[in-house]
Amino acid sequence: MTNDYWTTFWQTHARTSAMADPQTQVLRTLKQKPIQEAEWHSTLSYIISQLDLSPEHDTLDLCGGNGLVASEIAAHCHQVTVVDISPELLQAASKRRNNIDILTADMRTVEFPTAHFDRIVCYAALQYLTLAETTNLFENLHRWLKPGGVLFVGDIPDVDRQWNFFNTTERRQAYFKNLKAGRPIVGTWFDSSWLSHLASSVGFSSQECLPQPDDHIYSWFRFDFRCVK
Ligand SMILES: C[S@@+](CC[C@H](N)C(=O)[O-])C[C@H]1O[C@@H](n2cnc3c(N)ncnc32)[C@H](O)[C@@H]1O
Repeated sequence: MTNDYWTTFWQTHARTSAMADPQTQVLRTLKQKPIQEAEWHSTLSYIISQLDLSPEHDTLDLCGGNGLVASEIAAHCHQVTVVDISPELLQAASKRRNNIDILTADMRTVEFPTAHFDRIVCYAALQYLTLAETTNLFENLHRWLKPGGVLFVGDIPDVDRQWNFFNTTERRQAYFKNLKAGRPIVGTWFDSSWLSHLASSVGFSSQECLPQPDDHIYSWFRFDFRCVK
């Protein structure tokens, strides 16, 4: 059975934030202010460098939202397919570049042919899955990549630094209250070695947990993860 808390959350948020700035639409905010341009450009350059893109590559941007990441990727490769649960966010993504295709779908059930993509990115979205759903997704991601293809999963909440985030009594009380009510704050927090074992078990030939550079706005509680098929 799938948990629809997060898909409902994002479909609602996308509608209610339609007039907000693009970073607020995907909740890339700090103290309710959108990320600064310079920090975002640095983050984007880092994502592009991790993907090691070529002009002939076909790339999947899973949970790509309004295309803030996809638009930069599309400048460095042949075609980007952006999947998201929110049709409103995807509409904005489709307008960013001509070589962006959009597909409204749930990352837990979407299907692609075997060995279809050269690169896959999933940025700031793994937290919306349970561990069982993540296991299923990684099997699919491995299948959808071509041999030698690269998977970059970014901005993953780090369970070892969860209490850096819930760092006051009030925040911890809110965390437990929301957990009990089935409205988890942030979502799933991941153990980096759990992810490494998963990637290796589904067949990736190499996998690496990457601490985020210090100028990433969430580097104090998140990490990135890169695998090669
Ligand atoms: C924090 S935003 C990140 C968007 C984009 N990757 C970026 O970094 O700009 C998370 C995105 O995940 C999408 N999402 C959440 N759960 C999803 C699901 N089960 N299937 C597809 N998209 C989902 C949301 O609609 C939202 O666009």
